[in-house]
Amino acid sequence: MHRPSGARARLVFPLDFPNLTEARPMAERVAPAVGVLKVGLELFVREGAAAVELARGLGLEVFLDLKLHDIPETVDRAVAAAITLGVRYLTVHAGGGRAMLDRAASRAAQAPDPLTILAVTVLTSLDAADLQSLGVAEPPRDHATRLARLAWDAGVRGFVTSPAEASALRAELGPQALIVTPGIRPIGADAFDQKRVATPARAIADGADLLVVGRPIRDAADPLAAAHAVVAEIERSLAARGAS
Ligand code: C5P
Repeated sequence: MHRPSGARARLVFPLDFPNLTEARPMAERVAPAVGVLKVGLELFVREGAAAVELARGLGLEVFLDLKLHDIPETVDRAVAAAITLGVRYLTVHAGGGRAMLDRAASRAAQAPDPLTILAVTVLTSLDAADLQSLGVAEPPRDHATRLARLAWDAGVRGFVTSPAEASALRAELGPQALIVTPGIRPIGADAFDQKRVATPARAIADGADLLVVGRPIRDAADPLAAAHAVVAEIERSLAARGAS
């Protein structure tokens, strides 16, 4: 599995824009300070492969955040299609079940360039009451751990989790798991709609490998300087953790 090395390689900037006309200038602006660009549903539904090409053209890794959840055959074929696009990370829902996860991981393992499947456990927008209405009685953290274990046993090695659950996931899965956390807020930044947030330093200290930082960079007066500041904070925290 591909593992990011160095502080910059660990910063993921989401291209949360409606089209390439708006995404391109910001991508070009922050590219010198980020390692990965995340292409999500909004941009991919509108622009498709061209959105992936934008990121690759800037020499950055691509994180395709499609949160796939379908029958195993369909997900297998979608992973095969993502391989042809040359993406580095691709998200699937762990709730799709063992066979789906197994097919996604097996297909990704055949990619000529490493493609890491990232399992999304419990969406951070769901709370205990939401889970109960879905027939899930256990608390969100226990359910997230259960789904992460299921994905791990199916061969998935990457996980997306809230920073609040990063250390629990690390304890459950050990050092080989690749942990990605959104909900990152540098000190003093607005939390917006994220409820459980952590600073970059805290997330790294808790064992996160990749940090997704969107609005604190996108909406800063100087987005490149804001991205550089996050990278510097990651660097200091990695040094304290004894990692690189
Ligand atoms: O702007 P902000 O830093 O909150 O951006 C967060 C990014 O991470 C968005 O692209 C959002 O879709 C994504 N994300 C999230 N929470 C999750 C999974 C993904 O905020 N649990």
